[in-house]
Formats: sequence, C-alpha cells, structure tokens
Amino acid sequence: MRFDTPATTSPIDQLKVVGQPTDRIDGPYKTTGTAPYAYERHDVVPGQAYGFVLGSGIAKGRITAMHLEEAKTAPGVLAIVTTLDMPRLERGMMNAAYLFGGPVIQHYHQAIAVVVAETFEQARAAAYLIRVDYQPEAGKFDLAAEALNAPLVGDDSGEGSSGPPEVRVGDFEGAFAAAAVTLDESYTTPDESHAMMEPHATIAAWHGDRLTLWTSNQMIAWSKRSIAKILGIPAENVRLDSPYIGGGFGAKLFIRADAVLAALAAKAAHRPVKLALTRPLIANNTTHRPATIQRIRIGANRDGTITAIAHESTSGNLAEGKLETAVSQTRLLYAGANRLMAMRLAPLDLPEGNAMRAPGEAPGMMALEVAMDEMAEKLGLDPVQFRILNDTQVDPENRDRRFSHRDLVGCLRLGAERFGWDKRTPKPAHVRDGHWLVGAGVAVGFRNNLLTKSAARVRLDHEGVVTVETDMTDIGTGSYTIIAQTAAEMMGVALDKVAVRLGDSAFPASAGSGGQWGANNATAGVYAACVKLREAVTQQLGFNAADAVFSDGEVRSGNRSVALAEAASAGELVAEDLIEYGDLAKTHQQSTFAAHFVEVGVDAATGEVRVRRMLAVCAAGRILNPKSARSQVIGAMTMGVGAALMEELVVDKRRGFFVNHDLAGYEVPVHADIPHQEVIFLDEVDPMSSPMKAKGVAELGICGVGAAVANAVYNATGVRVRDYPLTLDKLI
Ligand code: MOS
Repeated sequence: MRFDTPATTSPIDQLKVVGQPTDRIDGPYKTTGTAPYAYERHDVVPGQAYGFVLGSGIAKGRITAMHLEEAKTAPGVLAIVTTLDMPRLERGMMNAAYLFGGPVIQHYHQAIAVVVAETFEQARAAAYLIRVDYQPEAGKFDLAAEALNAPLVGDDSGEGSSGPPEVRVGDFEGAFAAAAVTLDESYTTPDESHAMMEPHATIAAWHGDRLTLWTSNQMIAWSKRSIAKILGIPAENVRLDSPYIGGGFGAKLFIRADAVLAALAAKAAHRPVKLALTRPLIANNTTHRPATIQRIRIGANRDGTITAIAHESTSGNLAEGKLETAVSQTRLLYAGANRLMAMRLAPLDLPEGNAMRAPGEAPGMMALEVAMDEMAEKLGLDPVQFRILNDTQVDPENRDRRFSHRDLVGCLRLGAERFGWDKRTPKPAHVRDGHWLVGAGVAVGFRNNLLTKSAARVRLDHEGVVTVETDMTDIGTGSYTIIAQTAAEMMGVALDKVAVRLGDSAFPASAGSGGQWGANNATAGVYAACVKLREAVTQQLGFNAADAVFSDGEVRSGNRSVALAEAASAGELVAEDLIEYGDLAKTHQQSTFAAHFVEVGVDAATGEVRVRRMLAVCAAGRILNPKSARSQVIGAMTMGVGAALMEELVVDKRRGFFVNHDLAGYEVPVHADIPHQEVIFLDEVDPMSSPMKAKGVAELGICGVGAAVANAVYNATGVRVRDYPLTLDKLI
C-alpha cells in the first residue's frame, strides 16, 4: 500500500482497541522471566558452548604477536579465534569501526580474540591467559584540542537528523551585529553510554553454510544484510531472531562484535556458541553518544523577536564515523530570518560514536534550550512567552513548506497551566524550602517523525485467531501490544484473538526500532496487511468489500452476518503487504513537539541537586496506547535527568579510553532519584504521518529534558552551568 495522500477515515478511527491504555501483552512474560533474552535461549539449539571476548589493551596501534599456548591447554577450552587469524573483515552497515580481523587497533577494547569453552568460567579464565604484544601509537583523544581544526562535515545518510555541513539563510552576521539584544555562549555535552539493561549477546549456530543468530537487535533486516557483508556470506543464508530485547537506545541498531565473534567462534568450535559482551567491555567495545562542543548565538529585537540565530556544533569520531548532528532541531524550531547552522567533525581515536536515543536533538537541545532561557532573561521575557513569540508554522529555511501538524504552543500553554508556572519566582535564588534552594525550569522538546517502509503478514485461522508476523522488534517499547491493537481493530476481534510474532528475519521486513519511527510505521505496515486480509475475507465469504463491517468477531454486510472464523473454515487465509510512502514527508515537515517543566531543589550547603517534580506535555499525533506511550516518555524523562545531572563517560586523554566503563562508575538515575512525573498527550491526529495518524514519542520524551533541569537549577541557584553534567562541584 502506497501512502501518498493524507489519511481519511479508516477502521482505526473507531478507537475501540487502538488508543486504549492496554497493558503490555508481553508484560507477564517479562515479569515472570518467561520471555527469554538472547543469552537465555537455552532451548533453541543443543550443545551450546560459551564464548568470552577479549578486548584490546591499547587504544591505537598494532598487535605484533599473540601467545596462546597457555590458553589453548587450559581446562575446557574448545577453540580460540584471534584477530590475527584473518584479514580485517568488512564493515557492517552504520559501523564506523571494523569489528574484527587483522592486527590494527582502532580503539580501546576492540575485540581481539574469542575463547570458546565448555563453561563461561573456563572461557573467561583462558581468555586472560592470552598474552598480547602491542606496538602502540599516539592517538587523538581530546575533543576540545581537536575541535580547533575540525572541518565542516555533513551527514548525508538521509536518516534521522542528517543534514548538510553548513546552512545559511539570509545574512546571519549582519543581523546579529545589528540586533538590539544578543547572546553568544558555548555549551558542552559529554560522551554518554546507552547503559541498557541487557548487554549485547548472541547465540550462533551453523548448519552447513547457513547461520542462525539468536541475538538482541533493534533492526533485523539491516543487521541480517550487515552480518552477511561482514562475514562474506549470502544474506539469504542468515537468520536473525530477536523476539525480546532488554533495551537498546540505539546501541543495537547494528551488528556489533558479539554477533560477529559468536559466528566465528561457532564455526571454529563446530558447536553452537553463546556469548555476551561483559558489562566492562560495552562502553569501549561498542558505541556511545559522542561529546559535543556547541556555540550558539541569538540576536533579537527588544520585543523578543529573534532576528538572527546560529548554532554550530563540533563532535568527534573515528575517521569513518558520523558526527553528532546537534544542530538539527535549531533548523526547524524557531522563526528568525537570518540563520547559520554548522557542524564539524574532529577525527578522534576513541571508541566509535554512534546513535543514542534521539541522536542529534538530545544533546543539541541541551544547549539550545539553555541558550533560549538565557536569552529570555536578557530580554526580560518569561521563557514560555519568549518561545511562543518565536514559534513558526513553516520551515524557517523554506517558508513555503509547512509543518504537517505543529502545536508546540499548545504544549507550552497547557504545560504552564498544569505545572503552575505563574507561581514561579523569575528572579534566581529567591525561593527556599529549609536547606533547599528551589527553582523551576522549562524547555521545549522536538524530534522529527520519520517515515520508512514496513511490511507485515497476517493470518486468519479457522478459530478466528489473527496472527501477525513481522520482523519488527520490541525493545521494551510496547511493539507487541500496539501491533496487536492495530490488528484487533482492523479485523474486528478482541485482543486475545490476536497473536503477534516479532523479531525473526524469516518474517516480512519492518521499519524496525529506531529513531522513534517504530510505532507509526510498523503499525501502518500491519494496517496495510490487514486491509488485504479483509479483502480476502470478504471475497471468501462473497461479501461486498465496500460495505463490510468487521466487528465483534463477525463480518457484516447488508443483512448478512457471519463469524470471521468462517472465512478460514476451508483453510487459513494469509495476506502480506508493505506500507510505503510518497512525498508527504517532503512536501510537509513532520515533527513531534513537547514542553518539559521541571522543579528542582539544590542543597544550599552541598550543591546536591534533587529533581522534585517533572511534567511533559507532548504533541505527537495519535497516541496508539497512552499507557505504553507514557512509559516511553517517563523513561525518556528519566534518561534526560541522567544526562543533565550524572551521565558522563570520562575520557582518559593519555591512554584513550572511557575510564568509568561499568554501572558502578557510569551513573544513571535510580528510582530514588526520580520523583513525581506527569505526562500529558495533546489529543491530536496527524493525517500526513500514515493511515495510523500517529507519530513517535520515545525519543521526543528525552529531548529538552536536560535543559529544563539545567534551567531549573539556574532558577534555584543563580549559577548558570553550561557544561553537562551539572555535578555539584560545578555549583559551589
Ligand atoms: Mo534510536 S538512537 O535510533 O535507537
């Protein structure tokens, strides 16, 4: 099904099942431990041996020799594969680093060997008996130093927040020089780790030249092609299966060393091999959100109208890596006739930087939305009013192009009312509650809505059960549930008559989970398949397709009414289709919007920051399931608090690695850090987004949160911190 005109009415609009706050159908499996994660899939193939991955002890250079004698004769060892056993393997899709093969070391904890043994402990013990001779080279590890000469670089991937190296509209320099009120400040965000609960893990088994990977992966179709490319085998010989995923946040958008090394190890050991990257290996072996240095200049008239806005961002990466596109939201968020956006990329020899939840916007808004707060103060304007004043309904770079639907102002107004914004004391450091200095902050959230094709297959059996099959993944987001809701609504059956099977590359290729595009596109694919199944049903029953109603497990037309199951009495009905998109996303800018309000307390003596309450108001099209959507947003708000107050991969600038590479040293918020959270969704639909009229919320939820916290800390203390995270040493 091709979607190229705005959606009209469809069975989805009944909202009998879609739009309801249905509990996650995988919830009971998750909470009872009966939803196995990759490493726990003991039953999928017999004879699983254990693999253990060894990481490089240097950040840059070469391996000159590996001494395996002791490891080979250690108890239980079945096989050892080292990076010297083969030339450098191809890079997979979206990978900046080479994952294995050859003597060259690109980054610390790069995988250099896998040991296979009968038990995990034997594999680990043997791995640490391998002695490695290195020839280290000097590397570049300091973003601030390298930023000085970093060239302008764009991101032409067409994904997410991609964009050209530089965008100029009007005459920024002239307008900025002429502006009555100006701001020129720099902000930094640190390297961050996804810190998802489930580590990267894979069980690999070969049957002849066919490879099966039971793994933990967000994007099954990409990753199937990727692992085939890396290993140099045909993609049709690979099967990936990833039905349950313990979080990804972008870390599992692509193939990583766990999958490659499990496959190589299984081949060498002639046994299925399971392995997980150990927690201490993940920060440096896999990917992270790159640090940024951002300069923002804003010029405005005395009445608060922005006349000039510039956002320049520099990030670092391996030579073949992409940049952190931190200026993307600034291109679209506020009006202003004269504009300059620029992105620079500094070559670094740190581990690979790549996508992490809302890549681009998340760190970009941490800077932009603090700058907006500072500018409002300079203008003597309320920060909510300042943002409303500079709202735009058209793309500021191309004023003929409108947003499909944009109600940022509605988010700000409703949020201000619900939060009690009018009770805030604008003057900083003026509210006390015992030893706490109390403040409130606001920031806007913005994230694009991406359209990407997605396929599904639906089956109807003689008992009236509808089964959906698609390689879509559920990374903890609720995909199982919203897909079941979609199929139930379309086929007119109760939710318990729908079975959903996900994450298997044998199923039709979906949008996958990334860039907050999963919910809208994957359900639209299921919608398309259900439209076909409805046609098959009416044809089978001899009904007129045009006036057939699917409801209560029946199909009705005129004065006839037949149980849906009847249509499959002579055999299962199967339909498959793909949603694909025309030009609606080009003719109209599709984005999602939020307003975040945060109250903090800062200990007057120690500088300790505690978040006291948070409110998010989101405008993101139709909300398919308010319960799972709320879960996504409160999780994202929590991650935003982490980014604001604690998360930072600390770089050892001499040796070139992230020092705090475990969950003891890399701190994320825990329950005790997170107070009352409230989420409100504006009641809206976006007919340009898909037949579902939905968008994404999962990445929107993190965008702007960090800045709202920082602005609240400023309001509480009068101390403006422009370097994240806002640890207490920066406040006292
Ligand atoms: Mo998201 S960073 O595209 O999983």
